[in-house]
Amino acid sequence: MRDRILTWLEHHVTPPRLQHILRVEQFCSELAEHHQLDVEKAKQAGLMHDLAKYFKPQRLLQMAQTEGLELDEILAGEPHLLHADVSAIVARDEFGVKDEEILEAIRNHTLGNPQMSPLSCVVYVADTLEPGRGTSAELVGLRQMCFENLVAAVWRTGDYCIRHLVEHQRMIHPRTILTRNWAMQQSKEQHGTPSASASDRISA
Ligand SMILES: [Fe+2]
Ligand SMILES: [Fe+2]
Repeated sequence: MRDRILTWLEHHVTPPRLQHILRVEQFCSELAEHHQLDVEKAKQAGLMHDLAKYFKPQRLLQMAQTEGLELDEILAGEPHLLHADVSAIVARDEFGVKDEEILEAIRNHTLGNPQMSPLSCVVYVADTLEPGRGTSAELVGLRQMCFENLVAAVWRTGDYCIRHLVEHQRMIHPRTILTRNWAMQQSKEQHGTPSASASDRISA
C-alpha cells in the first residue's frame, strides 16, 4: 500500500512537497512510538495528509460539496484550506482507507479540532514542526515539547500558527482558535502548565 501511495504522490505533488510528506510520516512515527499510539496508523495518516495539496480550488470546492461538507465563508474564500478534508476523501476512495481515526487525523491536520484524538494531535504538530520547517529556537523547543507533553504542544503550535497568520495578514479560521483554546485548557487541567524547560526554550 505504501508503494502505491508513493507512486500516486509522485504524480500529484512536487518533489519538495513529497520530501515534506516523508518527514511528516517519520515525525508521526517517532511521536506515536513515544506516546504509545498505533505507529502504523500514524505513519499512514502522515503519508496521506497532503494528498490533495495541489488540487485546483474548483476541484476542492466541488469535491467538498459532493461530500456534503458545510462551507463557511472562510473555506469558500480560501478553498486551499479544504485540501485537508479532500485528502481524507482521496485516502478513502483511492486507497480504501476505512479507519475513521486515520481519516480524522488527515482532516484535522490544517485547522485542528477541539477534542481531537491523540493521533490527530500527532499529525497536526508533525505537519507544522517537521524538521524541514526550520531550526529556530522556537521550533526546536516546540519539537521537544511534542515528546514531553503532546496536548501542550498542540496549544503552543496553535499559538505559533496564529502568530504566523497575523504576521502574514492571512485569514484565521475559527477552528484554529477553538483548537488552540481547547488544547490550552486540556493542558492546564490535565498536565499542569508546560514544563519550565520547554517554556524557557520557546520564549528564548
Ligand atoms: Fe496540508
Ligand atoms: Fe503538510
